[in-house]
Amino acid sequence: ALPESGKVAWKAPSNIALVKYWGKKENQIPANPSISFTLDACATRTTLSFQKKETTSKFSFDLYLDGKPKADFKPKIEVFFDRIAEYVPFVKEYHFVIETSNSFPHSSGIASSASGMSALALCLMDLERHMQPNMDPSFFMRKASFLARLGSGSACRSLEGDLVVWGKHESIEGSSNLFGLKYPYKVHDNFKHYHDTILLVDKGEKQVSSTVGHNLMHGHPFAEERFKQAYHNLTSLQTILESGDLEEFVKVVESEALTLHAMMMSSNPYFILMKPNTLEIINKIWGFRKETGMPVCFTLDAGANVHVLYPESIKDSVIQFIQDELVAHCDNGHYICDRIGTGAKEL
Ligand code: PMV
Repeated sequence: ALPESGKVAWKAPSNIALVKYWGKKENQIPANPSISFTLDACATRTTLSFQKKETTSKFSFDLYLDGKPKADFKPKIEVFFDRIAEYVPFVKEYHFVIETSNSFPHSSGIASSASGMSALALCLMDLERHMQPNMDPSFFMRKASFLARLGSGSACRSLEGDLVVWGKHESIEGSSNLFGLKYPYKVHDNFKHYHDTILLVDKGEKQVSSTVGHNLMHGHPFAEERFKQAYHNLTSLQTILESGDLEEFVKVVESEALTLHAMMMSSNPYFILMKPNTLEIINKIWGFRKETGMPVCFTLDAGANVHVLYPESIKDSVIQFIQDELVAHCDNGHYICDRIGTGAKEL
């Protein structure tokens, strides 16, 4: 039976892709498989309060970000509810109050859609579990990831740690286009406790949404080659994750980031999301790597901010380098020290 009312709460992390998802088919099916590190510090906390209502014709919810009503996020949640209603029909039976907050500042240029949609999907699955107390934990996570994908593609990689694959790949057993899969193979110790220091180059709103960006891959002259390349890069990364070859890791990860932006620069219409300081930082990272031989590298999301990735073993030197050389290129000197995390938590 449906519970009358109640409250559930989850904290879900953000993630950073190593092999990028850029381009999709109908129903949020990715054009190529991707893999990401789950983050730790960058996360969304969401409380979902639910109360049975009389009419079931429409979705009904209030949304608060940091305690303040947030009207401009409502259409995105409407679309999300509309897409998932088929799989969680009870969403029409309740009035919801969604209270959400992010650990990172809203105007940081860090997308909250992955952690936000993941946290909300987990809350909804928690409510479904109220109705089916014997639900299998792996079914719970898989369906939550499936729902999160319908909110924002990359959100399906934001539930578990520490590496997640999304998209069908021949050599990764259990991988699927429909949900994220915790990377199922042993990973070399070099990748344990990996760090991601996020340099906030531009805290403004994105000029081009990822929805628009994905759509521009339809009819993109290089799309098919790009999808093949991503597939092959995931094959290479699989070998690298096993062997612990950090030099090869750096090559694949940086190439993926630059190719993502190259797709944006060669679409119709074309656009550039990097800023001068993005390039300054990239050049300094290359200089530092050449000088010291240390396997520190960068990756980029659909924005100007730079994620600096490095293993635990060189942490002290890299943080020193970031403080001495890179922070000057950040917006107001802002950066976030994050690392690989273990996944979402019930609150
Ligand atoms: O989940 P979306 O639709 O916001 O797409 C995110 C795409 C990138 O962040 C640029 C790459 C990725 O794989 O996360």
